[in-house]
Amino acid sequence: MTATAVVHPSLAVVKYWGKQDTGVNLPATSSLAISLRAFHTRTSVNGRTNGDPDEDEIVVNDQVQDLARFRPVIDGVRSRAAQPGIVRVTSTNNFPTAAGLASSSSGLAALTLALDGYFGTRFTPDELSAVARLGSGSAARAVFGGFTEWRAGAASASRLAEADNWPDLRILIAVVRTEKKSVSSREAMRNSRATSPYYENWVDSSATLFDEARSALLARDLERLGSCMRRSYLRMFSTMFTSDPPLIYWLPQSLAIIRCCDTLRSRGIGVWETMDAGPQVKMVLLEHDLPAAREALLQNVAGIELIESSVGGDPVVHVEN
Ligand code: PMV
Repeated sequence: MTATAVVHPSLAVVKYWGKQDTGVNLPATSSLAISLRAFHTRTSVNGRTNGDPDEDEIVVNDQVQDLARFRPVIDGVRSRAAQPGIVRVTSTNNFPTAAGLASSSSGLAALTLALDGYFGTRFTPDELSAVARLGSGSAARAVFGGFTEWRAGAASASRLAEADNWPDLRILIAVVRTEKKSVSSREAMRNSRATSPYYENWVDSSATLFDEARSALLARDLERLGSCMRRSYLRMFSTMFTSDPPLIYWLPQSLAIIRCCDTLRSRGIGVWETMDAGPQVKMVLLEHDLPAAREALLQNVAGIELIESSVGGDPVVHVEN
């Protein structure tokens, strides 16, 4: 039997950055996210038929992975299976892995959904989200498509709105560098929390930002949402810049793109940027502004690739006997 899940990554417009003391990957801040249709992870789960029959195997983009990170998710689903067994997992991304493009969100969500299909465990959406979270916090959101929210301290995320709730919303992804990042988001978050003098302020101030962004998103008010997005990622990065040792994921092109968005907005073109744990810049805008945004970015910033996306739908799971 093979179970396959295809899942889009979850781009946060209001960021999860920092964990609470108790539990695994329980967020210190509430986050709000959009699913990216242009990118996906495809993950298949089979029974293991070759190699060590007592050990699970995970292969991502043709590379065998260290199991440690995936074990809580595999065991979390398997512990509820009527017929537990050893699995072989293969996974591919149609976009760069571990480069700040949210591959861990779609990767761990796809693993959870494919395992649930394979073992026939029929988890509820809440349970799927909570198990995916054990592998990567942002994966708690990626088990849903469309627009999602994940409240501070919550064990699972939930859907805020369907993908077609904002049909002309687009995400323009500027890929600046595709190399794997040298510091994981897990490590960077821990360091921000432990050493940045601004961390408490970040957590305290993100609650009102979340509420404002949530109501802007539901009202499809891009200007209000965009303004919250900027405050969220810049405050998040402020905790990284002020960590010890400081962490600067940005590259010169990242800053050039931020400035270009600023210029576009001053010309009345609503392009609102955000960044995650990496140098790539993701911009949220309306479909009719895509040509102007693309042209300005390609003219002003050398060596970037631009990928357009609409809002992604729900994950798809297939089980074949
Ligand atoms: O869950 P992780 O370890 O992939 O961390 C996600 C952190 C950010 O992408 C920077 C923010 C977010 O909310 O997705």
